[in-house]
Amino acid sequence: MYCRKGFTVWFTGLSGAGKSTIAEELDRMLRERGVPNVEIMDGDVVRENLSKGLGFSKEDRDTNIKRIAFVCHLLTRNGVANIAAAISPYREIRDYARELIGDFVEVHVSTPLEVCIERDVKGLYKKALAGEIKEFTGVSDPYEPPLKPEVVCETHNETVQESASKIVEYLERAGYLTPVAQVVA
Ligand code: ADX
Repeated sequence: MYCRKGFTVWFTGLSGAGKSTIAEELDRMLRERGVPNVEIMDGDVVRENLSKGLGFSKEDRDTNIKRIAFVCHLLTRNGVANIAAAISPYREIRDYARELIGDFVEVHVSTPLEVCIERDVKGLYKKALAGEIKEFTGVSDPYEPPLKPEVVCETHNETVQESASKIVEYLERAGYLTPVAQVVA
């Protein structure tokens, strides 16, 4: 057994912090270890499908996160190694997700706003700073960092592999994954 029970790794952090990139690397690492069922619920993908039509008011964001949390709950209880990557800016609704899902590993991708602005992968910060996008997280809308995340990824100080490895190590320590050495032995 490589994966002992289902869990959700819940990423939170600013737009452009690196949530999706680390999520993909984590997905790759889990599969490489032989974990059979890995799923990613990515904010951008969810908003194209499950949450199409929702905007970025607090109410809509909360609805979006509740939908993601509900699917994560179903997947987790069916033994899936599940990864959610949405900004999820509000502490209260993340705690709701934690409660609902149970086997919940909160990962704060703590890339500072200045670094996200500098990277501006999607060109959205430029627009937000120019006032062309309203309610933009970190610029004109709140982001509440987690108080006690299980893992913190500092993408400005570490590589994607280092960030994903930290999460794998946590999953081993918490008993969700069997350490590789034990699998081989
Ligand atoms: S969440 O707040 O509801 O968790 P989610 O992760 O689904 O957000 O979507 C965030 C993505 O939507 C960002 O990465 C960005 O590409 C896009 N986006 C568009 N408008 C906004 C906005 N006002 N604030 C934040 N992200 C936005």
